Amino acid sequence: MSRTLFDPITLRDLTVRNRVWVPPMCQYMVEKTDGVVAPWHLMHYGSFARGGAGAVIVEATGVVPEGRISPQDLGLWNDAQRDALRGVVDLVHSLGAAAGIQLAHAGRKASTYSEWGNAAPGTSIPVADGGWETVGPSDLPFGDLAAPRALDATGIDGVIEAFVAAARRAVEAGMDMIEIHGAHGYLIHEFLSPLSNVRTDEYGGSLENRARLLLGIVDAVRGSIPEGMPLLVRLSATDWVEDGLHVEDTVRVAGWLREHGVDMVDISSGGNSPEAQIPVGPGYQTPLATAVKQGAGIPVSAVGMIDEPWQAEQITATGLADVVRVGREFLRDPSFAIRAALALRVAEPPIPTPYLRAYRQQLRG
Ligand SMILES: Cc1cc2nc3c(=O)[nH]c(=O)nc-3n(C[C@H](O)[C@H](O)[C@H](O)COP(=O)(O)O)c2cc1C
Repeated sequence: MSRTLFDPITLRDLTVRNRVWVPPMCQYMVEKTDGVVAPWHLMHYGSFARGGAGAVIVEATGVVPEGRISPQDLGLWNDAQRDALRGVVDLVHSLGAAAGIQLAHAGRKASTYSEWGNAAPGTSIPVADGGWETVGPSDLPFGDLAAPRALDATGIDGVIEAFVAAARRAVEAGMDMIEIHGAHGYLIHEFLSPLSNVRTDEYGGSLENRARLLLGIVDAVRGSIPEGMPLLVRLSATDWVEDGLHVEDTVRVAGWLREHGVDMVDISSGGNSPEAQIPVGPGYQTPLATAVKQGAGIPVSAVGMIDEPWQAEQITATGLADVVRVGREFLRDPSFAIRAALALRVAEPPIPTPYLRAYRQQLRG
C-alpha cells in the first residue's frame, strides 16, 4: 500500500523531505528582550528536525519591536538577530529538515505580558512597565487589551517596508521559506476582518480593501526574495463570529494570494474575537483547509489537533490538504514524525543514523 505523508513535496525550488511540518509556536524565551535567539530556541527547533519533521517553521517573529506580542518574542529588525538566527537554520538543515520563519506584526494584540513568569499573562503591559503603544487598522481594542492607534498611510507603508526588511534578513540567515502571519487576530488579520477594521479609506470596507495590506506585503516581499523561494501565508479562515470573516471570504483571499505568487496557505482559525465559539476537536480546522484548497486552487497545509499518524496520513492521502502541521503533539513528543513513519511502515523512516540502534526492533518488525 502506498503512503503519502512521507512523500517529498516541492514548492518552487525547494523540496521538503515529507509532509509532516512543525507550525510556528511562540516560546517567549528571548533572554534579554532584544529579539535574539537563545540556547532554548536551538534545542527547541533542532529537536523537531532530529525527530523527523519535514519542515520546521520558526515562531512568530516581530518585524518591528512594536510588532511583538511580548518583550520575550523573537525579532528580525536588525542584523544581530539575523546572525543569531543562522544557528537555528544551520542546525535544522544539518538534521535534514527545511527551515521556515513566520514574520509577524501583532498589531492591537502586541505589548502583552507573556504566558509565563508574569502575574497577569496576556494582559497589556503599560508603557511605564516596558510596554508600548499598539497599532491597528482602527482604534478598536481586543477584549480588555489597551486600545490601539489606527495606522495612517505612512504607518502602513512602514509596516510593509518592515516585512520586506525582515524577509531579506531571513533570506540572509539561510531560511528556505518565509511565512507571513495573517492569522490569529494579529495586524494583518485585523485588517482582513470587519470585526477590527472599520476604516473608510482604501484599506477598509470591501474585502478587496481589507486585503490590501496583506497583498501589499505579499507583493513587496515576493519581489524582494529569490524567485525560487516559497512564500507562505497563514490565515484564520473564519472568525467563528457571525459578523466576522467567513471561510467564503478566505477562499477569495487565498485565490488572490495565489495570483500574487503565494505558494501555499496554512489554514488556521479564530483569534480576533473573545466571543468566538470554536468547535475545538480532532482535525477541527481541516475542513476549512480543504475548502480553501478546492475553492482557491492553491496548495494548503492543515493544522489543529492532528495528533495521530493515521489521522495525518488520511489528510494527505485523500487530498484534504497537501501538508499537515503538528504543533502540540510535537511538543509532547519531538520524535512524532519518526513515530508516524514507523506506524505507517514507510520504507525509510527519518531516523538519524546514530539513533538507528534504538529502533532496530521496530525496523525489523
Ligand atoms: C505554545 C504555542 C505557541 C504558539 N505560537 C504560535 C505562533 O507563534 N504563530 C502562530 O501562527 N501560531 C502559534 N500557535 C498555534 C500553533 O501554530 C497551532 O496552529 C496550534 O497549536 C494548533 O495546532 P496543534 O493542535 O497541532 O497544536 C502556537 C501554539 C502553541 C501551543
